[in-house]
Amino acid sequence: MKANSPNVAAQVQIDLAERSYPIVIGSQLLGSALSYQQLPQAACALVVSNTTVAPLYAAQLMKALQARYAKVLLLSLPDGEIYKDWPTLQLIFDALLQNGCDRKTVLFALGGGVVGDMTGFAAASYMRGVPFVQLPTTLLAQVDSSVGGKTAINHPLGKNMIGAFYQPLLVVCDLDVLATLPMRELSAGLAEVIKYGPIADMTFFDWIEVNLDALLAKDPAALAHAI
Ligand SMILES: NC(=O)c1ccc[n+]([C@@H]2O[C@H](COP(=O)([O-])OP(=O)(O)OC[C@H]3O[C@@H](n4cnc5c(N)ncnc54)[C@H](O)[C@@H]3O)[C@@H](O)[C@H]2O)c1
Repeated sequence: MKANSPNVAAQVQIDLAERSYPIVIGSQLLGSALSYQQLPQAACALVVSNTTVAPLYAAQLMKALQARYAKVLLLSLPDGEIYKDWPTLQLIFDALLQNGCDRKTVLFALGGGVVGDMTGFAAASYMRGVPFVQLPTTLLAQVDSSVGGKTAINHPLGKNMIGAFYQPLLVVCDLDVLATLPMRELSAGLAEVIKYGPIADMTFFDWIEVNLDALLAKDPAALAHAI
């Protein structure tokens, strides 16, 4: 296998008629141009990330995107749930407008659920809707927030109060990025995974019980199955 050839462990097609999209799960996906070859052509791509995730993963993503987009921009937002608000959302619109980004511009959400929710809402609103891609980097975002098209920011009077339903074009779950995820965040994602067992699938619940140590050790095969 070549250094950056993608290794797809699973692909799930979300079937929503003309809003259908694939979720690709595997390793070496983020930095591979092949992961993005089905996306629409555009003059510009904007990667939205945060000050924690961007230094770790933005360079490889931007390099891969440069094979497809003439202009690839990076916006690094402050990190934290407290920044899932109007002033920070405005930074995304500022970057798009200051760089003359048109309605074909593709937004890439590189981060956890906070970055995904904000970028998705920005994509739903900018010029009445531009395409966007979810690149979830927490387990919680890979199993939950990047899927289903719920986007939002918080209001001082309530969480996720301002938002839109807006589907991504593609979700890329690269298991490699979970290597740097703090244990606390891994546990938050695992709690979400465990919840699905009793709710929907007791066989899966039994599987989790057997494979919990592998999941906690970030074993790629176990994570790919769970996601
Ligand atoms: N849209 C939905 O359907 C939906 C569903 C569930 C949750 N959410 C939202 O998701 C948010 C929570 O998401 P979260 O748990 O991913 O939190 P988060 O986005 O705040 O990420 C948690 C922390 O991990 C850091 N991080 C992310 N990826 C990393 C990596 N690979 N390596 C090192 N650090 C990394 C982040 O910078 C952050 O500090 C909430 O705002 C919640 O409302 C949305």
